[in-house]
Amino acid sequence: MLVLGIESSCDETGVALYDTKVGLIADELHTQIAMHAEYGGVVPELASRDHIRRLVPLTQACLKKVGKSYADIDAVAFTQGPGLGGALLAGASFANALAFALGKPVIPVHHLEGHMLSPLLGDHKPDFPFVALLVSGGHTQFMAVKGVGQYTLLGESVDDAAGEAFDKTAKLLGLPYPGGALLSELAKQGRPGVFTFPRPMLHSGDLNMSFSGLKTAVLTAVNKIKAENTSSQVIPDDLRNDICREFQDAVVEVLSTKAQQALKQTHYSRLVVAGGVGANWQLRDTLNQLPNTDTFFPPMRFCTDNGAMIAFAGAMHLQQAKPVAGFNVKPRWPLSDIVSSPFPA
Ligand code: KG4
Ligand code: ZN
Repeated sequence: MLVLGIESSCDETGVALYDTKVGLIADELHTQIAMHAEYGGVVPELASRDHIRRLVPLTQACLKKVGKSYADIDAVAFTQGPGLGGALLAGASFANALAFALGKPVIPVHHLEGHMLSPLLGDHKPDFPFVALLVSGGHTQFMAVKGVGQYTLLGESVDDAAGEAFDKTAKLLGLPYPGGALLSELAKQGRPGVFTFPRPMLHSGDLNMSFSGLKTAVLTAVNKIKAENTSSQVIPDDLRNDICREFQDAVVEVLSTKAQQALKQTHYSRLVVAGGVGANWQLRDTLNQLPNTDTFFPPMRFCTDNGAMIAFAGAMHLQQAKPVAGFNVKPRWPLSDIVSSPFPA
């Protein structure tokens, strides 16, 4: 079966073809970063319009690359939510129209389920069950995953997502949008321990997290530096890099401590890390070194939004259950809504 996957939840248009016998055979991505950069963040209306422009050419490029035509597609999977309403509607409209024209099923996919299953696209694939740490721009959650469709929420951020904290902190430091990845590069040159920021909810005893206070700690440090440095409103590079390092140390310490707690609580030994912040070098290094744990990451290019994870999740649904047809989008859609019972059910 050949599944076309469509991702359009935010500022990336992703299209991919997953063959249930062969695996991923084509994927194309267009990022809107350059378009949104001058506004300092994603402009939803521009995002929707750009998705509309890109979907057909990206799909044609995928098909052409592997010598297939529209008629070879057996099902169309698309991101139904969560995400920006208009951006989701662009992908949903395209997916539903194409599936209708081809007389093939359409499979709505939860964006976070796509991220969570994306490590299965790599060479080093996890077996079930595993603990998933979803760390994206919009979500930071621990899930117990027993199989495809069997997910239980273990804990989550009570305020900002980790990626959001990276981006907001980067903005505070005057870095260009999207600042998360750049902040993590600057942290490489920062000296550990020059600043001291809090590790919010580290000892809360549960698997919930909080990242909004960290941003405030950075703001306080930045204001202090500026007040002391009356000749210039710019933070010296070395101090900026030190702030990046301490900020990243704090996020990574919270995530890795809670990940160990989640593994202990579930008695699982596999940890899967997915979502944009999963591209972070320090998080990868730290989680790869956790004792008695087999840690899995998606291939680097599938950490951030992409069509391959949606095509793959769609293919899993197609093999497991009857596809659900329905033309609607769910801009707000907790992953826990598509799941099971409290752990351990
Ligand atoms: O999963 P994703 O592409 O989109 C959402 O579903 O939100 O994640 C994007 C997030 C952004 O907040 C971005 O700053 C963050 O992932 N990110 C990083 C890195 N690369 C991307 N955060 C920290 N370190 C990175 N290297
Ligand atoms: Zn995402």
